Amino acid sequence: MTITDLARDTSAWLSGELESVFAKEQQEDITVKAAMYSLNAGGKRIRPLMMRLTALMTGCTDSKMEDVLYYAATLEMIHTYSLIHDDLPAMDNDDLRRGKPTCHKVYGEGIATLAGDLLLNTACERLFKAALKEPGYLYASYFMCKNAGLEGMVGGQSIDLDSEGKTIDLDLLYELQRKKTGALIESAVVTPYYLINELNELQANTDKTACLLRKLAEHIGLSFQIRDDILDVESDPSVLGKNTGKDLRDSKATFVTLLGEDGAKDRLSEEIASAKTVLSELGKMGYDTDGYNVLVDYLEKRDS
Ligand code: IPE
Ligand code: IPE
Ligand code: MG
Ligand code: MG
Ligand code: MG
Repeated sequence: MTITDLARDTSAWLSGELESVFAKEQQEDITVKAAMYSLNAGGKRIRPLMMRLTALMTGCTDSKMEDVLYYAATLEMIHTYSLIHDDLPAMDNDDLRRGKPTCHKVYGEGIATLAGDLLLNTACERLFKAALKEPGYLYASYFMCKNAGLEGMVGGQSIDLDSEGKTIDLDLLYELQRKKTGALIESAVVTPYYLINELNELQANTDKTACLLRKLAEHIGLSFQIRDDILDVESDPSVLGKNTGKDLRDSKATFVTLLGEDGAKDRLSEEIASAKTVLSELGKMGYDTDGYNVLVDYLEKRDS
């Protein structure tokens, strides 16, 4: 099993579900067109990939897998909304994303803002709908909403913008990265397990596997964002699909701007090693961790 196999299988698994997010007649609307432009612009689909890995690792039945797919598409919508808004001139002001012009470059800032709003709102509708149909999914739906908000992605983006041009300490940098990137990754790694077992909040907080999955998610999330910070200085737009050198340009607080490239690489190695330790604990509990081990190896060296 290679990361290429996993990515190909995930993309095939996800594509039909993403196509059906908006009904044919809704696709005439300009904001829907803008949302679909970004949704289908060719992201790595790494969060859906993690959802598949957790589902397969923790024993998902075929019928539950359909629900995991529904939640995976929903998370990809929330992630895509975060990118559309992140690229706006009022935020990071970027014109290249997923190898294509950013949403606001094609559709204008107003429609791009609405496209992000629409993706988030439609994602919330889907989460409510699933919980209405299956009350055992209520906590999973709540968890995904919460991780997109102030305790998660929005909170991290808030610290990110507020830290521009300032020197922040390492603790605040970790909080920033845990929230802005780590929270959606936690949703990816953990939610399928909540769905499969229909966990409520108390069960989610005490179940041993759930606790280990949240720990794994934390190390994967930090690894992912530290590598993103490194790629901003080391990679090339033609490979990365987004412009480089942006963090220095905007005086962003990142692992590279705070610790230098070597310092960031040391932190990345630490997070990778910690993720592997959690995987070996899951392995001892009888879970097949091969897929996640392939993913973690990729996260250390990924070039896009
Ligand atoms: C980019 O996420 C934003 C970060 C959280 C670093 P991805 O690198 O997963 O972006 P896509 O989905 O592949 O475009
Ligand atoms: C953004 O982080 C993370 C989001 C919540 C969208 P970055 O600003 O570092 O992401 P890129 O580098 O633009 O993809
Ligand atoms: Mg940003
Ligand atoms: Mg950005
Ligand atoms: Mg970045």
